[in-house]
Amino acid sequence: MTVDQSPAWTALNKHAEELGNKHLKDLFAEDDQRFDRFSFSAAHCLADFSKQRISSNTLEKLIQLAEQQRLPEKIEALFTGEHVNTSEDRPALHTALRQPKEIPLRLGEADISQEIHSSLERMETLVEQIHNGQWRGYDGSPITNVINIGVGGSDLGPLMACRALNMFTSAEIRHIEVHFVSSMDGSQLARLLNKIDPASTLFIVSSKSFSTIDTLANSNTAREWLVNASGLSSELISQHHFIGITASPTKASEWGIPEKNQLHFWDWTGGRYSMWSAIGMAIALHTGNDNFRKMLAGAHEMDSHFRHTPLTENLPALLGMIGIWNINFLDIHAHAILPYDGRLQHLPAYLEQLEMESNGKSVTLNGDKFDYSTCPILWGEVGPNAQHAFYQLLHQGTESVMCDFIAPALRYQEYGEELQAQHQLTLANCLAQSRLLALGDSVLDNADNAPLHKRYRGNQPSTTIILDELTPESFGALIAMYEHKVYVQSVIWEINPFDQWGVELGKQVATSLLDQFTDPVAAKTDSSTEGLIRFVQQQRRE
Ligand code: F6P
Repeated sequence: MTVDQSPAWTALNKHAEELGNKHLKDLFAEDDQRFDRFSFSAAHCLADFSKQRISSNTLEKLIQLAEQQRLPEKIEALFTGEHVNTSEDRPALHTALRQPKEIPLRLGEADISQEIHSSLERMETLVEQIHNGQWRGYDGSPITNVINIGVGGSDLGPLMACRALNMFTSAEIRHIEVHFVSSMDGSQLARLLNKIDPASTLFIVSSKSFSTIDTLANSNTAREWLVNASGLSSELISQHHFIGITASPTKASEWGIPEKNQLHFWDWTGGRYSMWSAIGMAIALHTGNDNFRKMLAGAHEMDSHFRHTPLTENLPALLGMIGIWNINFLDIHAHAILPYDGRLQHLPAYLEQLEMESNGKSVTLNGDKFDYSTCPILWGEVGPNAQHAFYQLLHQGTESVMCDFIAPALRYQEYGEELQAQHQLTLANCLAQSRLLALGDSVLDNADNAPLHKRYRGNQPSTTIILDELTPESFGALIAMYEHKVYVQSVIWEINPFDQWGVELGKQVATSLLDQFTDPVAAKTDSSTEGLIRFVQQQRRE
């Protein structure tokens, strides 16, 4: 029996028939306590679910579904290192990476807490050496530019965190600029190499597998650039200018990263869950080791809340279950992520990978096909900019979309009045948009008389997440909350959120197509692919 045939699912289906057609404006009119009833807070975050199309009865039934799917047990399984990543037969222990040193965690024979903290301390030592000018380039120059080369989970988390926490970078470490290069097409790298000094540049090659072609292609180009600029051997250059962060040390050594320049993490850390490991070195370099630790502490606060709080008040559980309600019972398959704070500009891209690579699945843990929907299509943009781009569709288009609005309560406390006024303006816009999306033009007195092209139907559900302030702690908690939300949904859908087999075949096909470019009579493909290759080659000759 799949979950969609279960009693709790059937009860929710029935409930959706009764409540599903009710407009949010009516739900608000019937109950002026919705905010008190449906907002919950923990670990620096308040989540207001009152603009979701739910009643108390909906929440009760969703919790019944979570209990039926044994969510509390599955949460414990995650934290205690059970093999929740079934297709790869290993645990998913990203929560262990942010656990304080004194809390032991046994995995087989080893207390991995000690291993995790030695790796963290080793990373901190390297960070300090770079910060205080002890790490030198090939001509003795101290490092002023660090370039993180990585893609997906080895890029998006560190990039997002560096931008989010930029204002926490102290004056003493501002002389080091941290850059990110991910795309295999080389555009980001080429732009940087044109303007920086090779002797004072350090590359961090971040790759769990150390076999991702995108990352290796960029790393090869970077090393060639340094060898050409210095006239030195590739070995010498690697010693002074490359750090490798990986769970595959042999491959890193084969590529040429000396062992003393390697930082390791573990196969039980999923790529998209890895910013808490040494993969986060760019974050520590940019914001300081102390802020990196604060970020871990904030995430740990959310972990403890998730592990120990009853489902009825558990933020990640509620976020996940209300998502299930929208997707599986209200038939909403688009999800917009809308931060009202430019520092969170990379949050949408980060969540796109976190949610869609984790839960974009259609086979159960037992390998059975099913018919219900899983992860929706996620996208997003900094809210104020998105207002001038795709909000038209949210307000008047034909698609139902669920939205997450995210903003800090406080900002610019130590700045002038004008910037504080800008923050108020931003918050007013954030609240105005979620209000209008929920209630439509019922917020006006005479909306009924307006022509149709001026009408706003409303009834688009949203969650508003308010952080007390954007700090390393609240940022860590926010990201941990989303990680756990993804896990909650995977438990309900009975899928494995920790593998990503769907990205493998594309890599293989690309490798075999590469041969077609040099040898057009190689393996037969299809008329489109062959035609396009022929066209590209004709352009080359002309
Ligand atoms: O191709 C997808 C993926 O495997 C992601 O899951 C991962 O975050 C990314 O590639 C990068 O992988 P790696 O860190 O092994 O280079």
